[in-house]
Amino acid sequence: AEEGVDTIERALTIATEAAEAAGEPLRELHGQVESIDVKSDKSDIVTEADHQADRVITTVIRNEFPDHAIFSEESVRQTNADGDYTWVVDPLDGTGNFAHGNPNYSISIGLLEDGVPVMGVVYIPETDELFSAIAGGDVRKDSEPIVTTDRDSLDESMLISGYDPDGTFLTHFYQESRGVRRLGSAALNLCYLASGSADAVWERDTYPWDIAAGLVIARAAGAEFTDETGEPFEFSLDTDEQRTLLGSNGSLHPEILDHLESGLAVPNRSKSVDFAQDGP
Ligand code: IPD
Ligand code: CA
Ligand code: CA
Ligand code: CA
Repeated sequence: AEEGVDTIERALTIATEAAEAAGEPLRELHGQVESIDVKSDKSDIVTEADHQADRVITTVIRNEFPDHAIFSEESVRQTNADGDYTWVVDPLDGTGNFAHGNPNYSISIGLLEDGVPVMGVVYIPETDELFSAIAGGDVRKDSEPIVTTDRDSLDESMLISGYDPDGTFLTHFYQESRGVRRLGSAALNLCYLASGSADAVWERDTYPWDIAAGLVIARAAGAEFTDETGEPFEFSLDTDEQRTLLGSNGSLHPEILDHLESGLAVPNRSKSVDFAQDGP
């Protein structure tokens, strides 16, 4: 176990180095993206900057931890079933924002031990802010400890919606809360929950690289995570099985789940929340 603790602490140092190193080319390329490659559809895109950041990060990790597996959105997808440690990397989270010159983008680097997220670093190149945590240990924004809010009434709460293709969460909770924001970087959303700029976050169809680091950071700051039915959120590297994520400061969780259970008041939608189907 001692050895594990050492590895995780060293991993946090290396993740910080890798994120800061990858931040440099991103800052340079931000605002001057010349070509955008469309992947599966018009909003699923990648730029040369994503690849450049990916190369920097995977090189730093490989040099320091040649035995560890790496699972990155833009390159290797090695799951390394036999190994203890897997790095889960999103070299640029918020490519849409990045490609359109919006500063709300981040770098997300998480580490799994036996499949469980144990360390996370999320870096914001444009503001040079770094969130980091070790599961069961300290959680910081730069050198300052952070903690979630303890707000327990939806009326006074600020929520963030991540990916939500039919807008259900946004439409319903916009009426029920102080506001719902849609910002464009899933990893950062989780850090805002961790540091108290949001009281809850919602995200459909999460990918492992979007959330591995942010989950560790937000949990270490006191956040609670379930799926849309209230079952504990289970992290997985299986990209065929995308999961819905509801995160909150804990105090708000029951009230949000109550709304989800009793059906969201969205025009032209059935009372029950059935995300597998479209329409009423
Ligand atoms: C995306 C961003 C976006 C979220 C999408 C993600 P990418 O990641 O986090 O906020 O809504 O679901 O795929 O592609 O910019 O790394
Ligand atoms: Ca992407
Ligand atoms: Ca992402
Ligand atoms: Ca990405």
